[in-house]
Amino acid sequence: MNNKLFFALLIACASSQLHAETILIFGGEKGWIGQKLVALFRQAGHNAVPAKSRLENREDIVAEIKTVKPDAIINAAGIIGKPNVDWCETHKQETIRVNVIGTINLADIAYQHNLHLTNISTGCIYEYDAQHPMWSGIGFTEEEAPNFDGSFYSATKILMEKLILNYPNVLNLRVKMPLSTDMDHGFVAKIIKYEKVVNIPNSLCILDDMLPLAVDMTLRRLTGNYNFVNPGALSHNQVLELYKKYIDPSFTWKNFSIEEHNQILKARRANAELSAAKLLKLYPELPPIKEALINLFKKIAAQNQK
Ligand SMILES: NC(=O)c1ccc[n+]([C@@H]2O[C@H](COP(=O)([O-])OP(=O)(O)OC[C@H]3O[C@@H](n4cnc5c(N)ncnc54)[C@H](OP(=O)(O)O)[C@@H]3O)[C@@H](O)[C@H]2O)c1
Repeated sequence: MNNKLFFALLIACASSQLHAETILIFGGEKGWIGQKLVALFRQAGHNAVPAKSRLENREDIVAEIKTVKPDAIINAAGIIGKPNVDWCETHKQETIRVNVIGTINLADIAYQHNLHLTNISTGCIYEYDAQHPMWSGIGFTEEEAPNFDGSFYSATKILMEKLILNYPNVLNLRVKMPLSTDMDHGFVAKIIKYEKVVNIPNSLCILDDMLPLAVDMTLRRLTGNYNFVNPGALSHNQVLELYKKYIDPSFTWKNFSIEEHNQILKARRANAELSAAKLLKLYPELPPIKEALINLFKKIAAQNQK
């Protein structure tokens, strides 16, 4: 994160400490993104409570709200498919139960309890098309309808989004290809293990830059739909070249085509650039993806040297 952004967030955190809030966080107990949000809210002096109830169990959620008495709720729970989204192709009912029914359940309960909900969703609901060609730098905006349901995971997220945006208490954050300093999770952690990688530009979300914004947006009770990515796009090769330069000079990789890639997948993957313009209006200091990734890799390299 650059200095300006860091200080803006410090001020936001300091002013918000005037009133420490209780934030109930689904996915906060064991989830990758949820645990990071719990830590960030706590660092900012708030009472972050990892939720115990399951998204699809309405009575349990209502009971938990009565006990915890949150000021706001975050949903960072969801099915992402393990080891990858292909899992959702063969577990459709389980995926619907959590990513559609469960998520809408939570939004509806939050609405009935007059509580703000920040929903961590996905930007993997677009793919390049004639109006947004690859390498053009023309990103999909929040106003443009999703055009990628080529995986069941993405299809459930589109259905959920169509419904959840009818709730005026909801902030929907579309995370795409997240990565962070912990190299056992995220986009780079995945692609450095692949035998071959495609080479397609995509929007990425450096969680170290972006999750503090999710905290701020929640505390400000912002609502609506946001592409939650760093500005710009980087291709797999551009990311790996930077990885090689900053982290592992001995790293090598091989490319293959999208057609060859599709042959080893159950479901196609969403490749697209999303526009960060709406988010940049709120946070003009948000670093572009190349700068953000170099900062992140430098941090990881420094950690590795310790
Ligand atoms: N990771 C990515 O690459 C990525 C990219 C874009 C968007 N996102 C979105 O970000 C959100 C969080 O992803 P993540 O990477 O943090 O995934 P994660 O590490 O798998 O965490 C998801 C959490 O959701 C919980 N969960 C699953 N079903 C639940 C249910 N029915 N009720 C309550 N909790 C449930 C899981 O707990 P249990 O293990 O106990 O089930 C887990 O702790 C997801 O909605 C995902 O779609 C992720």
